[in-house]
Amino acid sequence: MPALVLLGAQWGDEGKGKATDLLGGSVDYVVRYQGGNNAGHTVVVGDQKYALHLLPSGILSPGCTPVIGNGVVVDPSVLLSELSGLNERGVDTSKLLLSGNAHIITPYNVTVDKVTERFLGKRKIGTTGRGIGPTYADKINRVGIRVQDLYDESILQQKVEAALDVKNQLLTKLYNRRAIAVDQVVEELLGYAEQIKPFVADTVLVINQALEEDKVVLFEGGQGTLLDIDHGTYPFVTSSNPTAGGACTGAGVGPTKISRVIGILKAYTTRVGAGPFPTELFDEDGEALRRIGGERGVTTGRDRRCGWFDAVIARYATRVNGLTDFFLTKLDVLTGWEQIPVCVAYEIDGRRVEELPYSQSDFHHAKPVYETLPGWSEDITKAKSFSDLPKNAQNYVKALEEMSGAPISAIGVGPGRDETIEIKSFL
Ligand code: GDP
Ligand code: IMO
Ligand code: MG
Repeated sequence: MPALVLLGAQWGDEGKGKATDLLGGSVDYVVRYQGGNNAGHTVVVGDQKYALHLLPSGILSPGCTPVIGNGVVVDPSVLLSELSGLNERGVDTSKLLLSGNAHIITPYNVTVDKVTERFLGKRKIGTTGRGIGPTYADKINRVGIRVQDLYDESILQQKVEAALDVKNQLLTKLYNRRAIAVDQVVEELLGYAEQIKPFVADTVLVINQALEEDKVVLFEGGQGTLLDIDHGTYPFVTSSNPTAGGACTGAGVGPTKISRVIGILKAYTTRVGAGPFPTELFDEDGEALRRIGGERGVTTGRDRRCGWFDAVIARYATRVNGLTDFFLTKLDVLTGWEQIPVCVAYEIDGRRVEELPYSQSDFHHAKPVYETLPGWSEDITKAKSFSDLPKNAQNYVKALEEMSGAPISAIGVGPGRDETIEIKSFL
């Protein structure tokens, strides 16, 4: 009954897509459990590069069944265009399963996301503008539209009416926008229904039966621990639970079923959008990390903010997710620095703090306390085992492991599938 959760240990973009794809060949199901097309997961297979937003990265492994779980929010137009894009490139997508309980990102949710951000002005979150927050808000407010609603026109009509009731008041009276017509939305959503129908399934039943049959199931998180609505840097977060508990609610499996929780951890730190980021660099080093690491958003094309590795955050991720392993990515990007600073604690108003403060104001004031580790200059992209790494790179990995609270079981030394050092098998 191996059930693995693979999730981001920082602020997203840690390399989850690559890690999922790497395991894809040995797992039977890959399940997305939260988020939506705010995610951008890059997978490099040979000379082919894929950018996946909504579909689980397992879709690129022929033996694997990709599943979009109940906790995901689904924009049907994005789903269909991502599927056809992959079909055109010869990828078989016919095995996809989509939960009938997943919520739909409607066109009005996308509109509300954009106008809200504009209205917030300087206080904006810097969302991806994909309608994620408003769709989860509708879900919690019990005015959401679910995939299954597409197959009952009268229910769909009633639900869209209910959802637009208040929103149209806000749009016209507060945001000075035109009202959105119920019929138009219903017509658009019904237009997707037949094309999506072959994928719709009782995914909770399928996943639990698979686990009973001893199949290997991998739960692939979107975003990352510090973007979690409960455990992240609220309010500068996404509107779902990328942390390990989210895999249980977002896929319908009990916590007793989960056997391993793997945190994907970049060898330095990045963040997209607004919010606190203690180790952020505004100098040439930050610029170099961005350039060498190719740190530009897959979804929005925004430059990612870059900084040194933050062990306080890694320890926090170990704690809130119950991590059993880390997969350290992008170690190759650090090649060439003579000295590499690593944040081991914070200084907050003159005090040394070892753990992530729960208080938002404290975190905003946190200054990194750095320890500096010696770097390496040798090319490491061809390394196949830990002992192939230069001594200083080995020591950097060991130091991070020591500080972060869980074993590093794999190391990424390049974007390709085979550019990985496996220390301990995940299966
Ligand atoms: P995700 O959202 O967590 O899947 O990560 P993204 O795909 O948004 O960003 C990670 C980027 O790093 C992608 O361009 C990957 O191809 C790339 N990548 C992943 N692992 C490695 C690695 O070990 N080394 C290098 N150089 N690039 C990597
Ligand atoms: P992957 O899966 C990095 C960020 C946005 C913004 C905040 C809220 O590729 O790691 P949202 O549109 O979700 O309401 O935006 O969350 N964000 C991400 N940052 N990687 C992601 O996904 C992200 N998905 C959302 O930039 O700050
Ligand atoms: Mg990404």
